[in-house]
Amino acid sequence: MTLRLPPNAGGIAEACRILAAGGLVAFPTETVYGLGADATRAEAAARIYAAKGRPSFNPLIAHLADREAAEREGIFDSNARRLADHFWPGPLTLVVPVRSGGSVSELSRAGLASVGLRVPSHPVAQALLKAFGKPVAAPSANRSGRISPTEAAHVLADLDGAIDAIIEAGASEVGLESTIVGCADGKAYLLRPGFITRAAIAEVIGAPVIVADAAHDATAPQSPGRLMSHYAPESPVRLNATRILPGEALLAFGPDLPEGSETASIVHNLSPDGNLTEAAMNLYSFLRFLDKLRPSTIAMRKFQNLASVKR
Ligand code: TXA
Ligand code: MG
Repeated sequence: MTLRLPPNAGGIAEACRILAAGGLVAFPTETVYGLGADATRAEAAARIYAAKGRPSFNPLIAHLADREAAEREGIFDSNARRLADHFWPGPLTLVVPVRSGGSVSELSRAGLASVGLRVPSHPVAQALLKAFGKPVAAPSANRSGRISPTEAAHVLADLDGAIDAIIEAGASEVGLESTIVGCADGKAYLLRPGFITRAAIAEVIGAPVIVADAAHDATAPQSPGRLMSHYAPESPVRLNATRILPGEALLAFGPDLPEGSETASIVHNLSPDGNLTEAAMNLYSFLRFLDKLRPSTIAMRKFQNLASVKR
């Protein structure tokens, strides 16, 4: 049975009790819903891996209430400090070397010498982290490889019965995961693109951001999370579709529909005006919606001229 908790003081107190007992609590963040567990206890991290069906070589992000708590877990160089100053609390994860004496369990870090740290801005996440007082490991609250959840109902669709509780609040505002930046040896690496752009990061640190390709750059921090299949609906998905085939479900973007759209079984538009922020917010929930209709294929329109798109 998954307990459904309200996003108020009582719900947060109950969530803390469950976390303290080593249990799993899903909670809202501004990016997507996270599946939280006490990051300092290996057996709690083990439960996350089991509930998600996630390979345990894929490390978890530790969530903290503030910058001070984060600096107790990792070593920040000047880039990391600048980025934390500028983007925290908010949708940025920093991967930095582990500080000796840090409390995040080795299993939560998947045995790496680095740790992923994030200070979320969502008021419910903030309240939970403050009340719990310890780092909370939280991957996105979906089964491994599936679409990330931006609403409480998405979490329950994947994990009802498999987790102890969920704090139910509204839809996540950003709708895409945090941008992950690795800071090591005075360099900054983009480990996962997200809502905060590479250009915005480069501007804050005053230096280019290296796009990490672990296969070609032995000095780049490892990012085991970039598995071949990610965020996958059950229906086949066709990307960069320029021509829609009869019966396909079309996930459109912007005012111009691709050729053949009139033969689609359904058209859902991420943002009819071509607003990228609105599209990000809608992406996962629209994918889930179309997937439920079990179309032959979900065709996604080619995102052209991204540079000219509104944010
Ligand atoms: O927005 C988000 O970041 C959400 C919310 C819940 O905060 N969380 C999230 O977690 O997306 P998850 O587990 O779905 O993705 C975490 C990513 C994985 O790709 C993992 O490999 C990477 O972070 N990661 C975590 N620690 C790392 C480390 N020490 N080195 C390299 N990559 C790391
Ligand atoms: Mg995920």
